[in-house]
Amino acid sequence: MKRLLVLASGRGSNFRALCDASRGGKLRAEIVALGTPDANIGAAEIARTSGVPVMHASSEGTIVDFFRAERIDGIALAGYMKILTPELIEALRGSDGLSRILNIHPSLLPAFPGINSYRQAFNAGVRETGVTVHLVEKEIDGGPILDQKSFRIDQCATAEDVESRGLNLEHELYPRTIDWFLNGEYRLGTREGKPYVARS
Ligand code: GRF
Repeated sequence: MKRLLVLASGRGSNFRALCDASRGGKLRAEIVALGTPDANIGAAEIARTSGVPVMHASSEGTIVDFFRAERIDGIALAGYMKILTPELIEALRGSDGLSRILNIHPSLLPAFPGINSYRQAFNAGVRETGVTVHLVEKEIDGGPILDQKSFRIDQCATAEDVESRGLNLEHELYPRTIDWFLNGEYRLGTREGKPYVARS
């Protein structure tokens, strides 16, 4: 069984989806802990009711020590608002050269990086947007893409509609991609001389 650490600093709907998927066997990994800088957030409440230990992620050193001591296979960011330093990413990098840290982003990257991406897409008038799971590298929202799912938004009357449709997709895509990643289905390769992560 693979061992996953989730880092979150918000309401925790993705964290809840990961807990459900782990319990239901769709995510073949144990969620060893929820790491958070703030134990009062929604995600921490979900952890307590799901029986997942809450780890106080006060510094990057704490995260690295926990990762090593607990033999963690991967970290999933789930609404984690702190930017990770290149040193942390390097310290945890796998022997296959891949970052061990995954993130879910609420747009079809590289479109709409940064914050409020559902609103950015809505305001831009695009007809489709989507969600992306990617590996975390030092370029913000710029690491190799593992998977994406798109959806049409021309029937959405508000940015909140876009967000609620998008979150449903996030909750499907993230557990599945993490499951594949932790169970060795992605390989670092090159395409036209550039690094590319492919599913084998
Ligand atoms: C999600 O939209 C996720 O894509 C983004 O932050 C939001 C977190 O929501 N990275 P939640 O805390 O998982 O409900």
